[in-house]
Amino acid sequence: MIAVANQKGGVGKSTTAVNVGASLAESGKRVLVVDLDPQGNASTGLGIDHTARIATTYQVIVSGTDIRAAMVPTAVGGLWVVPSTIDLAGAEIELVSQFSREGRLARALDPIREDFDFILLDCPPSLGLLTVNALTAAEELIVPIQCEYYALEGLGQLLKNVRLVQQNVNPRLRLTGIVMTMFDSRTRLADQVVSEVRAYFGPRVYDVVIPRSVRLAEAPGFGRPITVYDPTSRGAVAYRRLAEEVAARDPELFLGFGDLGDVASGTQGTGAAPVAPAAPVAPQEAGEVHPSEAFFGMGDRGQAEARRTWDGGAGTEPEGGIE
Ligand SMILES: Nc1ncnc2c1ncn2[C@@H]1O[C@H](COP(=O)(O)OP(=O)(O)OP(=O)(O)O)[C@@H](O)[C@H]1O
Ligand SMILES: [Mg+2]
Repeated sequence: MIAVANQKGGVGKSTTAVNVGASLAESGKRVLVVDLDPQGNASTGLGIDHTARIATTYQVIVSGTDIRAAMVPTAVGGLWVVPSTIDLAGAEIELVSQFSREGRLARALDPIREDFDFILLDCPPSLGLLTVNALTAAEELIVPIQCEYYALEGLGQLLKNVRLVQQNVNPRLRLTGIVMTMFDSRTRLADQVVSEVRAYFGPRVYDVVIPRSVRLAEAPGFGRPITVYDPTSRGAVAYRRLAEEVAARDPELFLGFGDLGDVASGTQGTGAAPVAPAAPVAPQEAGEVHPSEAFFGMGDRGQAEARRTWDGGAGTEPEGGIE
């Protein structure tokens, strides 16, 4: 199970989830894409009409609906999707008062884990509870990074949250891959960004770089993955290669990330990719951080809001929801 996450918007998360999913299915794998974004871009990109979204991620996570009732087949053989709708935007707040709120997606997926070779979780552009649910359910994390200025901005915060999830609820989680997206070969900047990211993340960065391509941007409008919309285009070729790398990669090679220093100090130099002024992350022992810290201190506005309305004493659950 693979979470595709980056709290930065528009970096290619949904495009990657849809097209890696379609490429894996094309190669004979059984694949499920779970749309965790209220915008529903992965659902649209896979041709699921809004009116056809009867049972959705929202019902699965918030109401405990059986995920099998929400899975719909796509036009690609072997590729299924759990669609989302805008309702999901309320889930972040509704979940706050629920018991074990970060593990709801993991539990919902348990009965079907064995039915698929790959389950891809398309996260929203935030570090809120939906992304935390994805990180709690997954064994792998893939982070798309756009080849542009400020490419690494916010990554320190993402990695900090990954550590918190590893330490508190999901020690199996591995940051297995960084995929460079929207590469424009005409600019020197794009090359510089790729080199900087490779220098910092080393073998975690996939060999293939996804080119900027109009065909990739057009495909979701037709509800088709690139492998169907334009099967021989550069984008389709790149995403098929990425899918091969994803399938071949052994997550166990990427234990923890003690090998990565502080993102903020590791990538300055050429100035091609200024990074976030994130506070350095001190390594913490397992159990040192109370889960409430892990799940409320995520810099997400909704979470901050929720926290203010809850006088969370150590070890207590918020009672009865928020005002
Ligand atoms: N390689 C590419 N070349 C050209 N356009 C692309 C490429 N990848 C993605 N796009 C387009 O860029 C936009 C953002 O991509 P996408 O929706 O995949 O990002 P995202 O990270 O999921 O965004 P969000 O944070 O809003 O969920 C979309 O319009 C998409 O079609
Ligand atoms: Mg998206």
